[in-house]
Amino acid sequence: MPCNRVREGVAVKRVLCVCLGNICRSPTAEGVLRGLADARGLEIAVDSAGTSDWHLGNPPYGPAIRAAAGRGYDISAQRARQVSPADFDRFDLILAMDADNLADLERLRPSANTTPVALLAGDRDVPDPYYTRDFEGALDLIEDAVALRLGQLQNASAARPKSR
Ligand code: 4NP
Repeated sequence: MPCNRVREGVAVKRVLCVCLGNICRSPTAEGVLRGLADARGLEIAVDSAGTSDWHLGNPPYGPAIRAAAGRGYDISAQRARQVSPADFDRFDLILAMDADNLADLERLRPSANTTPVALLAGDRDVPDPYYTRDFEGALDLIEDAVALRLGQLQNASAARPKSR
């Protein structure tokens, strides 16, 4: 899980992006989140996973890699993995790409775990470009949603009292 360490210290947030196959939307969201966090000097650890095991160990889908590269995000080194119950303890925030992913995640959640799980785009799904073929549209939505999420994370960390 590469981490944007832009200043000394421990990562303030660990974020997991989740979709179905972990080869289109969530790798793209991971790359955009890492890229925009870096650009803002934010220290965030980012990873992604799929609810299915269909593409374990595979790189992101070629058209997704190319669309992301066109906007300056290199997601080619990512490899698909399946989300596990242990991820609920490893991450501070889990962002689902659609309502099906969200429901699957809630079924996987260990009892007593309270990690926030939410749709990346707030109140809407990121349509799956594996089926729609609209990779640019998915990127538009993911970039806008990630920018909003980063603003929320920045506000939350600004409002939190310093621990020392
Ligand atoms: P993703 O898209 O969930 O955004 O990675 C998919 C990729 C592959 C498949 C389904 C969704 N598939 O059926 O193989």
